[in-house]
Amino acid sequence: MKDTLFAVPYWKFKVPNWTQTKKDIHSLLETYPCIEHEGQNFLTNRRLSLEKASIFLKECLRVFADPLQEFAQEIKTNLKTTRAFATAYEKGHDHILHNHGKSLFTAMVYIDLDPKIHSGTIYKQPYTQFDSGNVAFVSPTVVEGDMIIVPGNIEHLSPVNPSSERKTIIAMDLDFYD
Ligand SMILES: [Fe+2]
Repeated sequence: MKDTLFAVPYWKFKVPNWTQTKKDIHSLLETYPCIEHEGQNFLTNRRLSLEKASIFLKECLRVFADPLQEFAQEIKTNLKTTRAFATAYEKGHDHILHNHGKSLFTAMVYIDLDPKIHSGTIYKQPYTQFDSGNVAFVSPTVVEGDMIIVPGNIEHLSPVNPSSERKTIIAMDLDFYD
């Protein structure tokens, strides 16, 4: 009889009042814009000064308080959000396979995403298929205003944006309080 040794969970929550919240996030991203960095094929505000990064994090905690609270209630643990940053993908941009391995969990909120032209994040199964030995990928369906939370050590990628419509994501890393 077959049973399961391991399974990888993920959580999905909705950011409330999405129409207004999206406007608020766009205003925030005008102050903390995503820009190009050498060696990265996407735009990001990940390299803000410590002071600005701290303000951006506080703003994200305010904007995303409800889904983060829902998550804390589900896992019965209050976690610390250690950082927040936005990534944006214009035509031809992608984000290669990576993880947020130093963090317990990573939350990703889909800010600008047209499901007809953009793909959500693609996650790599952390072991090969038992019947074929092949690698396997999963990409949960997402729409704007969705927050997906995955274990931080799960590798993932953002495939090439084939359109001139920008895709924007805000990521937050969550960890135990010291
Ligand atoms: Fe990531």
